Amino acid sequence: MSELPSLSFVPVNLDAIKDAGGHIVVFLPESGKLDQLARRVNRLTRGALERFAESTSFARMKDGEARSLSFPTGLAAEEILVVRLDRRIRGDAARKAGASIGKHLRGASVLLLAGAMKGLPDIVLGALLRAYAFERHQTESSDDKNKGAGALTVMTTQPDALAAEGEIVTALAEGVWFTRDLVNEPSNVLTTVEFAERLLEMQQLGLKVQVLDEPELEKLGMRTLLAVGQGSESPSKVVVMEWNGGGKEAPFALIGKGVCFDTGGISLKPAGGMEDMTMDMGGAGTVAGVMRALALRKAKANVVGLVGLVENMPDGRAQRPGDVVRSMKGDTVEVINTDAEGRLVLCDVMWYAQERFKPSGMIDLATLTGAMVIALGHENAGIFSNDDSLAQAFLESAELEGEGAWRMPLGPGYAKQLKSRVADVKNVGGRPAGSITAAEFLHRFVKDETPWIHIDIAGVASLSTDSLYAPKGATGWGVLALNRLINDRYEG
Ligand code: BES
Ligand code: MN
Ligand code: ZN
Repeated sequence: MSELPSLSFVPVNLDAIKDAGGHIVVFLPESGKLDQLARRVNRLTRGALERFAESTSFARMKDGEARSLSFPTGLAAEEILVVRLDRRIRGDAARKAGASIGKHLRGASVLLLAGAMKGLPDIVLGALLRAYAFERHQTESSDDKNKGAGALTVMTTQPDALAAEGEIVTALAEGVWFTRDLVNEPSNVLTTVEFAERLLEMQQLGLKVQVLDEPELEKLGMRTLLAVGQGSESPSKVVVMEWNGGGKEAPFALIGKGVCFDTGGISLKPAGGMEDMTMDMGGAGTVAGVMRALALRKAKANVVGLVGLVENMPDGRAQRPGDVVRSMKGDTVEVINTDAEGRLVLCDVMWYAQERFKPSGMIDLATLTGAMVIALGHENAGIFSNDDSLAQAFLESAELEGEGAWRMPLGPGYAKQLKSRVADVKNVGGRPAGSITAAEFLHRFVKDETPWIHIDIAGVASLSTDSLYAPKGATGWGVLALNRLINDRYEG
């Protein structure tokens, strides 16, 4: 995976500032008052910082914003990055400030003059998240990579206390980066086989990883999942990742849609924009990123992640509109539209997860419907749930992590739209409420006793513009919220 910048915390040493190369970050509060470290930078630059603090340019800056002073006299550094931030800041504002630093972190060495600054873990997390770039297929930039991944050094009054928190922050950032790498990867590279291999590598982190291949899936009766993949040269797979950091309790289950490419199948999608369907494995990518973060930070919880990896292709062997297929649960499905394939993959994996693990709760994530993008755009993922307490807990986690999430309804009236003439259920419910009927399809495969959330991430998994914490492309939406949910609800 892409390599994170290295992170270290060092004690305050005023004499090290003059000769530090790369970029130096200085914090200035609204008042413009310089702390000890800023005063040293000011003295070395013969008053440049003080002049900046008194300028209208500084007065116009918002909290968390950064301005660059290039090639300052008196310093070896090529840039001073002045970040306007109050010393007591934490949480959201601190993370945002971190993001403006992160943009400068690509392959560079950055010295953060933090001193007694609070909220450093959040600042660092924001910086690491925003330092991401997906450049492995760009020949020019990969030459640049001789520069390395970059290094972030934090000069602080509390280097030892922060080191442990730094490890957690690094674990979270690595989880998010892992998801983004998977989601950004083109589909000729990230085939079902390659995806499974990248997950198997996580055994090194202490995860138990098992790959179920087509003959085993056939034996288990996962016919709706297999039907989606039967037109592809890439074999369908289900990968099970177990993190057992808790006690004897049943695990919490995370399920991901891993459609490595979605052409629509015989119900072929139009050509325009079809290339975006490389991200149709975003649910599986998110599950993988969460499992990675949990393993890296050695979470004290039992969590199992299951992903259904398939490719939806038109072919002589592909399933047809009108086919009737039996799911692992036993319900028969009339496939009206082969482009509504995600639910056919998820229903078998969800059923299998419940049969095998009897989970204490289950969350599935999927780039499931275009209708979700119409409903909520790119600001919020849609949350559908049979359990108010779990749904509420997730919404709070998402809010605290700044990941937009909005609850949508379920109901038997919507489920009725899925009545089939020839089978137990059909896979589409018509145009009205397309995201909700998709959720109702999945609901049918949730046991009454299983608290469950379905998250439709079609609008948030990948964006065509830069966002606060990511360059255009994959966002890694959900990794932080799910990590927090598990931490708050199952580790205390
Ligand atoms: N993967 C798509 C949904 C999607 C669309 C995700 C746009 C991200 C951005 C899904 O498999 C799909 O094709 N859904 C159909 C369902 C329809 C046939 C009922 C859709 O939304 O058009
Ligand atoms: Mn589709
Ligand atoms: Zn799809």
